[in-house]
Amino acid sequence: MKVLLEKSEWDTIECDALIVPMFEDEEIEEGLPSKIDSKLDGLLKELKNTEEWQAQIGEITIFYRPKGLRTSRLVLAGAGKKRMYGSYAIHQSIMQTVRQINSHHLKRLAIYCRGILETRLSAQATIEAALMATYDADDYKTKDHSKNLVEEIIFVSNKRLNGIKVQEAMDRGQILGEATNLARKIANEPGNRISPSRLAEKSKDVATGCGLEIKILGEPEMRKMGMNTVLAVAEGSNEPARFIILKHFGAQSDEDKPIVLVGKGVTFDSGGLSLKPPGSMEEMKLDKSGACAVLAAMQAIAQLRVDKNVVGLIPAVENLPGGKAIRPGDVIQSMSGKTIEILNTDAEGRLILADALFYAQQLTPQYIVDLATLTGACVVALGHLQAGLFSNNDTVCEKLLLASERSGEKFWRLPLDDEYRKDLDTQIADIKNIGSRWGGAITAAKFLQEFVGEIPWCHIDMAGVDLFRKGQKVKGPTGFGVRTLVEMVSQ
Ligand code: BES
Ligand code: MG
Ligand code: ZN
Repeated sequence: MKVLLEKSEWDTIECDALIVPMFEDEEIEEGLPSKIDSKLDGLLKELKNTEEWQAQIGEITIFYRPKGLRTSRLVLAGAGKKRMYGSYAIHQSIMQTVRQINSHHLKRLAIYCRGILETRLSAQATIEAALMATYDADDYKTKDHSKNLVEEIIFVSNKRLNGIKVQEAMDRGQILGEATNLARKIANEPGNRISPSRLAEKSKDVATGCGLEIKILGEPEMRKMGMNTVLAVAEGSNEPARFIILKHFGAQSDEDKPIVLVGKGVTFDSGGLSLKPPGSMEEMKLDKSGACAVLAAMQAIAQLRVDKNVVGLIPAVENLPGGKAIRPGDVIQSMSGKTIEILNTDAEGRLILADALFYAQQLTPQYIVDLATLTGACVVALGHLQAGLFSNNDTVCEKLLLASERSGEKFWRLPLDDEYRKDLDTQIADIKNIGSRWGGAITAAKFLQEFVGEIPWCHIDMAGVDLFRKGQKVKGPTGFGVRTLVEMVSQ
């Protein structure tokens, strides 16, 4: 896909479709809307007056061959309320708009910049969203594949601006949009197509493609290192565990303290012996979304030549109830030495993350960020809009929240008071792997905290935001987290 900047007015651009964002709360009598309205002989005013079209996010209206314009279609894209316009709104609005017109045999697609936000930020978010709109989750259809014919995306701005800087922002948008789609593509792979070892193979392909160093640990090596929590979860499956280590050396010295990103890589989570109800068990192929986000973020970090040392860690297992599976009541010893009583084999994410986080801690990093589809409780708390964010350090937490303003992904910080830790006390071991019924996302985070020591750390519970759910015009896994991670380590 070609991504181009064109400094021009909206009414002179030549293309197959010109998308112009419009706000719910702007007057048709003024500025750009009035100009568009007069080109359309008053149709825009009519649409607004009859409330046929209100410019809400995702609402579009198309005018074919508008007189006096050189575009074959003028697409007015609802962008919501002006004061809410930021990366999140651009993503939603552009993604849903491009998605709806994608099948219209468009090759040259132009998107006009309304100049509300800083141009570079708009440019980056717009390109990310346009690319994300071209992803489809139908890899396994043998016919009737969704067509994506867009060859060029043109960002149109009439502002006097530094073209090189804006083009740079667009290139960044392209790298991040493509990385997000990579995460979505791998996350979308069904459990029978991606095992932990296949995930490791894919990681190798990605690493080779973008110049990351990669090391893959097999079970014998993991056993030697005492990674028993990862090995224990893998016991119930015929598929052996893998521990994937990706490295990007971008700092002046290889000795510079790294930033460590950790992603939960459960290629399928049946719950193990604490088997899940069949309801929507198929969604549990997405239990590797955290891993996919880390892998894709590492690709983007390498492509952008971020000037930091960054390590990506992926503990990869399949959680099945086979004959050798861990049982409720089992006690295992983690790599940190701490013993864990397993009371529910479905709380497997925190188990594999325990050793991954301890491994991360041993690298004495600047900070650690982990991403995991960790708890249903987080979905109950926050629904599908915002991910849960936990941190033992206000400075890194702020860093992440600042990054999220650029990435347009939403996070809500939840507490980590020490009192919650009591819920994980058990008579027979150092800690148990489930708490009581209440505050489940928090007790899961408290469990993880046990293994990071004093290292500044953020934990992202992305169980609710890993999938575009019903009612959305965009399909499949979301690729959540990729962009925030890259923005954060780039700071
Ligand atoms: N992978 C699930 C969490 C999940 C739930 C992700 C819903 C996406 C949507 C995790 O391994 C799990 O099963 N957690 C249990 C923990 C419980 C047993 C303490 C849960 O949330 O029910
Ligand atoms: Mg589980
Ligand atoms: Zn899980």
